[in-house]
Amino acid sequence: MTKHLHIKTFGCQMNERDSEIMEQLLAQHGYIAGADAEQADLIILNTCSIRAKAEQKFFSLLGSLRQEKRRRPGLRIAVAGCVAQQEGERIFERMPHVDIVIGTQQIWRLPELLQRLEQGKSKRETACGLDKHFVIPPFQKLLRSTPALPEFRKFVTIMQGCDNYCAYCVVPTTRGREISRPVADILEEAELLVSRGVREITLLGQNVNSYGTTNPVAEQPVSFAELLKMTAAVPGLRRLRFTTSNPQDLSTELMQCFAALPKLCPHFHLPVQAGSNTVLKQMHRKYTRELYLEKVDELRSFRPDIALSTDVIVGFPGETEADFEQTMSLLETVRFHGSFSFKYSDRPNTRSAAFPDKVDEQVKSERLERFQARQDEISLERNRDFLGRSVEVMVEGRSESGVQGRTGSNHIVHFAGPDALQPGDLVMVTINHAGQHSLKGELAAHEK
Ligand code: 5AD
Ligand code: SF4
Repeated sequence: MTKHLHIKTFGCQMNERDSEIMEQLLAQHGYIAGADAEQADLIILNTCSIRAKAEQKFFSLLGSLRQEKRRRPGLRIAVAGCVAQQEGERIFERMPHVDIVIGTQQIWRLPELLQRLEQGKSKRETACGLDKHFVIPPFQKLLRSTPALPEFRKFVTIMQGCDNYCAYCVVPTTRGREISRPVADILEEAELLVSRGVREITLLGQNVNSYGTTNPVAEQPVSFAELLKMTAAVPGLRRLRFTTSNPQDLSTELMQCFAALPKLCPHFHLPVQAGSNTVLKQMHRKYTRELYLEKVDELRSFRPDIALSTDVIVGFPGETEADFEQTMSLLETVRFHGSFSFKYSDRPNTRSAAFPDKVDEQVKSERLERFQARQDEISLERNRDFLGRSVEVMVEGRSESGVQGRTGSNHIVHFAGPDALQPGDLVMVTINHAGQHSLKGELAAHEK
């Protein structure tokens, strides 16, 4: 019997991939994804707990589903992801209309939990085990074949978890210890995706630079740089990206890949978090401002046109005005193409939650505003560097203003183009307008 599935994903690309896995698993059990919440037989909320705001957003959405459940008692509600991992059965106490709580290493068991509910074996199901010996289930060809149309861009998970224990970060408790996937599984998945029409792959992990260092991934140890080279060698793949890196583990070997691998897109997301060494130390980031700047210079020596983006936290406990000025000056020095910046918030089971000297909300808001205003100016200045240049763009789809695509440097480009252009096509576009968040241009020539 056909059933309708609605998935709402919060948070990072890791969660997006996990939602896709759940969707693919459930498709084998008759669930069709894409339904509205009001029509769905099963609603999955795949949650994020990285900042207090993300968690609040989820809880308010979950609260609003109480009515829906009352109206349709047959509706099943499942909570997955990082809040599920963090809260476990406590979610039932606060939100009794939830049927399933499933943790980050357990998503593969979702069909089994649903079946137990359907068979009346229980009223509620929880699976939240987190094991440091966890093995990411091998990729199954069948699962990736469920969507009818091949998409041009896909994520491939290469590792889960994080061993860094930054003072502010919830990830080691919600995603567990670092676990790398075997090389053979990753390559098999990449090859299959490309054979189905995928042209761009993003390798995903919380800390990709330490890929392969924590558990055996092949008979011979394989570094992340080697894994990138192997993936880039998959015939037919046009673009390769990865996320996320920690500056402390960024090796020269990896940086060299930007010069050696034409498919590797010239974009690097390198979260700095703060510009002050005092704050970095308190955050338990294992690099200094100077080391970060050295890495940026070295990276640019291999690929001068590389676009850099970063994450910044303002108002970490104890951050003074002078510390914050250091973050502002780092922004001036690096001139990031773009950044994600956040007000610090306490998270459960993190060390900084117990730190004294919390920064006033008002001060945090002011600092955030200042940082973002300056970043916006720099982004615009950086975008203007594209004017008159001809850049390679991968088509993503259509918008009101014509075709929308993306440069290797991760900039959105709008241009007029024929209907025949399909997502995944590569075209050359000459840029003639630069906005803060996107570029516009004229189609030069294209190959299929
Ligand atoms: N408060 C604010 N921002 C945070 N981040 C992680 N933990 C916190 C926190 N407790 C930010 C970091 C990280 C990004 C994904 O979220 O900048 O890189
Ligand atoms: Fe959010 Fe981090 Fe979990 Fe991703 S890993 S969903 S960003 S808490």
